[in-house]
Amino acid sequence: MTTMQESPTAADSGANASEAFKAAASTRDVADTPPQRVAAIVTSVLRGVHDAIAEHDVTYPEFQAAKAWLMAVGDGGEWPLFMDVFVEHAVEEQVASSQQGTKGTILGPYYLPDQVKLGSTCQLPRRDDEQGPPLVLSGQVRDIDGSPLGGAEVDLWHADSDGYYSGFAPHVPNGNLRGVVVTDAEGRFEINTIQPAPYQIPTDGPTGEMIEAAGWHPWRPAHLHIQVRAEGHRPITTQLYFARGDWLDSDVAEATKPELVIDPQDDGSGVRRSNYDFELQPQSEA
Ligand code: DHB
Ligand code: FE
Repeated sequence: MTTMQESPTAADSGANASEAFKAAASTRDVADTPPQRVAAIVTSVLRGVHDAIAEHDVTYPEFQAAKAWLMAVGDGGEWPLFMDVFVEHAVEEQVASSQQGTKGTILGPYYLPDQVKLGSTCQLPRRDDEQGPPLVLSGQVRDIDGSPLGGAEVDLWHADSDGYYSGFAPHVPNGNLRGVVVTDAEGRFEINTIQPAPYQIPTDGPTGEMIEAAGWHPWRPAHLHIQVRAEGHRPITTQLYFARGDWLDSDVAEATKPELVIDPQDDGSGVRRSNYDFELQPQSEA
């Protein structure tokens, strides 16, 4: 029996993020890395660990505490959270160096495939009493040569006004604040939603413990996750952030970029509006 709870625990978020990651494995590209490359990468990673041990004169109690912590991250299913907060941005920067068009950033652990398809002018699924400032994001999807991409998919997911994601927090209904918006013939879209709150890494699990032990903070600035896909084009995985928002300059996941900050303006009716266009690179030029 589970009890009603207001907010998810780290174990809930972690276990759900682990399940989502495993479920996506069947559709993920196989890395197919040759042995020489595996050896080279693992050697470098281990050298980094060995160097840190020498540099900081690490003791046996510290080594054993590190082992206990690594086991706790696994037991709590927090590896997807940890990897996406502390490591993914470096991979994304590496991959982005060969991509033209709109800037990308990290996917994070809370993407879920196969969400409801919506028309080009739409409202993301939300609860009747969904809190948060009304937000309208409009824009156009284009090729990098400027031609509009009709029928492109703008796959949007974001946290609620308490910073929780549907599918990863038991009190939020499945599919809430998630949807795949299909652009019109001119590549345009207009999406009604609410402005999310900043997101806090669950503080009650091992990742939160490490952040606290290091004297860091667990926050990501408020953000919208967006993946834009169009046939024959390289998809873009990105996020949009809000001008002057808390934690914008100290994102724990180091995933903000100045090009990805929007500044929605109140249209006089309490609705905040912003325009953002996406430009995709043809697959053949990838
Ligand atoms: C994490 C959560 C996010 O919402 C995000 O965008 C990136 C990382 C995390 O908890 O790991
Ligand atoms: Fe996120």
